[in-house]
Amino acid sequence: MVSEKEAFRTTVLIADDSEPNREILSEFLEPEGYTVVLAENGEQALAHFDSERVDLALLDVMMPKVTGFDVCKTLKANPETRLIPVVLVTGLTQSQDRIRGIECGADDFLSKPVAREELLARVRSLLRLKQFTDELENAETVLFSLALSIEAKDPYTGGHCDRLSKYSVALAERLGLREELRVALRRAGIVHDIGKLAVPEHILLKPGPLNPEEWVIMKQHPVFGERICSPLKSFRHVLPIIRHHHEKMDGSGYPDGLKGEQIPLTARVLTAVDIYDALTTERPYRKALPPGEAFATLQEEATRGWWDPDLVKELQATLTASEPASLTTTL
Ligand SMILES: [Fe+2]
Repeated sequence: MVSEKEAFRTTVLIADDSEPNREILSEFLEPEGYTVVLAENGEQALAHFDSERVDLALLDVMMPKVTGFDVCKTLKANPETRLIPVVLVTGLTQSQDRIRGIECGADDFLSKPVAREELLARVRSLLRLKQFTDELENAETVLFSLALSIEAKDPYTGGHCDRLSKYSVALAERLGLREELRVALRRAGIVHDIGKLAVPEHILLKPGPLNPEEWVIMKQHPVFGERICSPLKSFRHVLPIIRHHHEKMDGSGYPDGLKGEQIPLTARVLTAVDIYDALTTERPYRKALPPGEAFATLQEEATRGWWDPDLVKELQATLTASEPASLTTTL
């Protein structure tokens, strides 16, 4: 079991090819209770992130082979490490270094020679920020786990949420949607049905068709879902997708009966992908349709006034294009 001391341990990585510099920084940090790990170069620094938890990195910019800039860039490009604060340690007058550091995603800079008080103040404030983002991430993780627990109840929907996220992001990229909307779609793919938590199991898992009273409850799941996720500020672009993922273009959907462009574009994107994935997955009452037939059905239903016909076309183009980046990577 992890001891209490261990759980609250804060680890700072110091990467510098100069031993005296590493020593000075450790001497400032260790008496304050930080655990310090040392790296003599960029390669060693990156290896530490693979093998242990690091809460903050202090990187000298000039190191042989893999520089502090390279390490910073690598950390910020990886979803697992991008929220770890990185402080670049630069020469006093190197404004070029700072510009390059900003481009690499550095969170802060310290000038050599590093002053003790300044170092401690920067480290403290960056760690405080990190704590907030960690808490936010934890909240997000709880929501994702809850959402996936609903998916797990239905053996026929295995992997549905994951595919929904990936295909929606790929379609959003094709449409040129800005990053925050793409991130919202990735999240909505996972949590869109989280409101089903509030739907009783005898309705949710009923093998036959629902009666009118049961439908009234089932149709509330987007509203419940919006309510569950609404305390999270970072989910503000996700909420409209959750609420409106069962609307139809002709106004016959639920919960609000919105029509056409009244339905947020992101919700229309998720709906098109949701229906496509449902058609191409095996269900108790029918076999999975091949992609061509699924798109023919989607287009027919779009003509009937249910789905956005342009988005159906764009989705088909997205999924038939060779390997869209989002189908293999995560945001
Ligand atoms: Fe739903």
